[in-house]
Amino acid sequence: ESKEQSVTDRLYEVCKLLKENVTYYDWVGFYFKNEDKEELKLRTYVGEKTDHEIIPFGKGICGQVAISNENFVVPDVQAQDNYIACSINVKSEIVIPLFKNGENIGQIDIDSDTADPFTEKDERFLEFVNQEVAKIL
Ligand code: SME
Repeated sequence: ESKEQSVTDRLYEVCKLLKENVTYYDWVGFYFKNEDKEELKLRTYVGEKTDHEIIPFGKGICGQVAISNENFVVPDVQAQDNYIACSINVKSEIVIPLFKNGENIGQIDIDSDTADPFTEKDERFLEFVNQEVAKIL
């Protein structure tokens, strides 16, 4: 097994743990920036299958975070005009950028079927998760 594959396996385990332990985390995935292309690529996830394996910078919530380097909490996805729908069940979303050596290299993306569930506790917790994840990359 390659280093890349074993890292992907561990990221998958992180997704699984998060989804299993937080009732309102219904889809959990990691996107990473593609080398020399202005796009994000889905590395691994748990939850409903998605068609959005590739997301151009600037597009959707994920694409905006690729550029802004800021957390993006969406209490109501219907109220967003720059949003990419993955499933009709999704009501809210949180995207937290992942930094390695100070550089925004990707993000954790979580969808919820619950309206407005995310608080600052989720932001602090997921920032911590991303910091830990960055250590194994
Ligand atoms: N909703 C995201 C697209 C990715 S799916 O949630 C898996 C967005 O607007 O960027």
